[in-house]
Amino acid sequence: TEYETILVEQRGRVGWITLNRPQALNALNSQLAQEVTAAAVAFDTDESVGAIVVTGSEKAFAAGADIKEMESMSAAEMRATDHFGSWSDFAAVRTPVIAAVSGFALGGGCELAMMCDIILAADTAKFGQPEINLGVIPGMGGTQRLIRAVGYYKAAEIILSGRIMGAEEAERAGLVSRVVPASDLITEATTLAETIASKSLPSLYAAKAALDAAMETPLAEGLAHEKQAFAALFDTVDQKEGMAAFREKRSPNFINQ
Ligand code: HXC
Repeated sequence: TEYETILVEQRGRVGWITLNRPQALNALNSQLAQEVTAAAVAFDTDESVGAIVVTGSEKAFAAGADIKEMESMSAAEMRATDHFGSWSDFAAVRTPVIAAVSGFALGGGCELAMMCDIILAADTAKFGQPEINLGVIPGMGGTQRLIRAVGYYKAAEIILSGRIMGAEEAERAGLVSRVVPASDLITEATTLAETIASKSLPSLYAAKAALDAAMETPLAEGLAHEKQAFAALFDTVDQKEGMAAFREKRSPNFINQ
């Protein structure tokens, strides 16, 4: 497939999506939204891919939704075109997705990172929801996902003031899983993605779905989801293989079934 706003590559069992609109600090326009989603869905339906990494450039993961593209839109047009709608298909992929963030992750860029399962940050990363400075609010999940990540009071300060957080603060707040030196970001993302991708796909899908359920359901419902998903994995070949390998003191050979 020919993409114009992203670079797509598979290395081993890891699918890489690199945002590539350097002239606009990787601002998310509709073409980029469609391309990222299409690439992620293609990886998601490919059994040879066990993890996806989304990354940008050293200077910017993404500086937000494309302001120039949406500036002149009316409310009716925004609703009718469901301008940010394709991102819900990105958020719905079953495969674990790592955001490897260097530089700006602002507005829609921060929201894209939060649609991923793990946020790995360079020490140069900057996170924020500056939409309030533009007379709008986050529109790709920021008000909902940031609260779940960092709690109400931290999220409220960030969203109401538009203040930008550095990588260390974002890690302390629980938005970022780990901060690494900027020069190590891709190596660290590769190692983490390869580790994840080496596991059995049915268990990865089940774990991600259970984590997603935890974001959305009361505890009792989430526990019921987990119990059911845990039991279901006992019909997989890989559960028998994983436990036999443990008993036989060897590495498992998973076949993703
Ligand atoms: C369109 C953008 C852009 C954006 C940067 N550019 N961000 N274009 N949409 N979000 C463009 C600039 O216009 C400029 O192009 C080029 O990228 C380089 O940016 P500079 O501003 O010259 O770089 P710098 O001085 O280093 O400043 C970096 C920055 C700043 C602090 C990140 O670019 C910035 O504040 N950007 C906007 C951040 C923002 O408000 N994001 C939230 C967007 S709203 P030209 O050709 O002009 O030189 C949003 C809503 C999402 O995300 C929710 C959905 C509704």
